[in-house]
Amino acid sequence: MDHKSKYILGIETSCDETALALIEARSSDEVFECRIIASLIHSQAELHSPYGGVFPTLAKREHEQHLQPLLDKVLQAQSSDNSNETTTKNNNAIDAIAVTEGPGLEPALWTGISFAEKLGKEWQVPVIPINHMEGHIVGSLLHSDKPDGKWQQLKKLPLPSLALLISGGHTELVHITGDSNQNFHYKIIGSTKDDAVGEAFDKVARMLGLPYPGGPHLSKLADTARQNGIVSTIKLPRPMIHSKNLDFSFSGLKTAVLYTIRNAEKTDNLDDKFKMGLAREFEDSVSETLGSKLNDAIEQTNAQSLIIGGGVSANIELCNKFVEIADKFGISIFIPSKHISGDNALMIALAGALNNNHSQINRPLRANGTKRLS
Ligand code: KG4
Ligand code: ZN
Repeated sequence: MDHKSKYILGIETSCDETALALIEARSSDEVFECRIIASLIHSQAELHSPYGGVFPTLAKREHEQHLQPLLDKVLQAQSSDNSNETTTKNNNAIDAIAVTEGPGLEPALWTGISFAEKLGKEWQVPVIPINHMEGHIVGSLLHSDKPDGKWQQLKKLPLPSLALLISGGHTELVHITGDSNQNFHYKIIGSTKDDAVGEAFDKVARMLGLPYPGGPHLSKLADTARQNGIVSTIKLPRPMIHSKNLDFSFSGLKTAVLYTIRNAEKTDNLDDKFKMGLAREFEDSVSETLGSKLNDAIEQTNAQSLIIGGGVSANIELCNKFVEIADKFGISIFIPSKHISGDNALMIALAGALNNNHSQINRPLRANGTKRLS
């Protein structure tokens, strides 16, 4: 083991979470280890709630206000940790900064990038641009997300692997190849043609009068329907389930829900029971659609493992479906903890520490709203 460790500061501002994290990482040819010193998230969800979605200029202003106070807390955590003998270093300098460059909302991304570049200059350390989606992939490999300062290795990912990334902004199937946990290559083999799955959850939730972000609320309603044996009288479509490719589409499903609600209003049928049934039917449709594509993708890539990432991976019903599929193929599945499933900076710091993209260091950074994994 090469005991020369590095402190990596992670910064994430791609959407409506301002997040900072600090890890210490060390690696040799065979083993990568890290320990979490701090992982802080300031969520703006409540602030954006009245708009029914993320309002970019408001997100930018909030990020600008919260980055420095969060950094102060992270550096405080590092100081208290420094007396801890588990560290292999004797000063509390930061060795590198990992920052989300995209994808995401560009005004929001720029706040994190500018902040990282300012710190990089001040501390004379490299700034590593990170693809947010890679963060969602590698985050799932942590054994623990606790900032307890304890060294941990990552879970070994059987390769080739397949990641299903499902969030408010993305629905992507990523084929992962490589020769070890420290050297991954990514290829997007399927993505949404229109709305992301989380976006569809949020929009349908809004139609049903649920607060933003509606995904968890809608899921709860669907669960209540299941517990009470309530089924929808209306069957919703399973979009693109029979198409040959691995792409998704959720806007037709969303529109089908809209028409169903309008019809129910006209006939005075839009009561709580109807809403519950519809929420259940919507979740079932998403589950079958994602499940069917995942199934095809495993067959096509001979994947040996599955990673589920992004905020929607907090959905238990969907995860049950993914586990069922993984079991059917006899492959392992990695589902992130709650802290890691949503946007966070721990996954960004980790991606920076693994740094699958060495060549990217020391180039000018640029917010890229549609940055793709490669
Ligand atoms: O990854 P994330 O925190 O932010 C980005 O979009 O990048 O994902 C947030 C999305 C929102 O659309 C939210 O409604 C959805 O994840 N979400 C859920 C659940 N928890 C969060 N959707 C369905 N069921 C859930 N339990
Ligand atoms: Zn995300």
